[in-house]
Amino acid sequence: MDICSLQKLVPIHGVLMGINIYENWEKVEKFQARSDDWVIATYPKAGTTWACEIVDMIYSGGDPEKCRRDAIYNRVPYLEFQIPGMPSGVEQLDATPSPRLVKTHLPIQLMPNSFWEKNSKIIYVARNAKDVAVSYYFFHQIVKALPDPGPWDVFLDNYIKGNVSYGSWHDHVKGWWEKRHDYNILYLFYEDLKENPKREIRKMLDFLEKEISDDILEKIVYHTSFDVMKTNDMVNYKTIPNEILDQSTTSFMRKGIAGDWKNHFTVAQNEKFDEDYKRKMSDTELHFRTEI
Ligand code: A3P
Repeated sequence: MDICSLQKLVPIHGVLMGINIYENWEKVEKFQARSDDWVIATYPKAGTTWACEIVDMIYSGGDPEKCRRDAIYNRVPYLEFQIPGMPSGVEQLDATPSPRLVKTHLPIQLMPNSFWEKNSKIIYVARNAKDVAVSYYFFHQIVKALPDPGPWDVFLDNYIKGNVSYGSWHDHVKGWWEKRHDYNILYLFYEDLKENPKREIRKMLDFLEKEISDDILEKIVYHTSFDVMKTNDMVNYKTIPNEILDQSTTSFMRKGIAGDWKNHFTVAQNEKFDEDYKRKMSDTELHFRTEI
């Protein structure tokens, strides 16, 4: 299979996604959620892997050895994942005994209905739009199934317009925010996790109805810190072959900070971004910090 053949983006109910997801969409739509599923939902590059590792640490009672049982993409299957020749996310999840951990980047309106019917617990993590843009740009350079991002200026323009995989960041974060009280959703922010991981992990524990000691909480914070995760091959995606994810120029675990956008946005790009942002976010109370 030529991985580059997967780079095409196709709208699914108006939201651009990889052609591979589009061609297997029916299986995602019909996915059977379970009431004891724990779901991590995000727009790409919002700290998904970080949140997945935290949730798996909670699931594993704070034992890092248990979290080394497999790579993160097997411990927390990616619902809509679909690459020919590999088990799809739906296949992986169907074969996983309960309770399952589930990762998804789907916008809320495209979530399979069964999640609402089963009232599964969903943790949504949002990250400020500018850091996501930068992180997504570098990610496009390492993931061979994503379209060539072109120069930063061109990518940023496409990102602002929502012409990237998973569509508009603005629609994604607002969609989940607006429905957070209608369903079993805990809405968290990357910047808060960065500022005070202990406080935010406590929110997750309360939401997941799990009690753990302070010692174990400290262990979770340490094990899921950027520096520790960066050298942990079970989460840093180094187990994926270069033909699919090539980390020779930039790492998946790249910087892991809030505010890196300042090293990449020009003054003109920032002004244009802010003007567009103000318009698109004028109808929401949702507030992001772009630095901490
Ligand atoms: P950067 O590219 O800005 O460094 P996702 O998992 O959704 O693809 O998100 C990846 C982003 O989260 C990357 O951002 C990555 O470095 C960051 N990240 C991963 N683990 C992290 C951690 N433990 N602490 C802070 N950031 C983390």
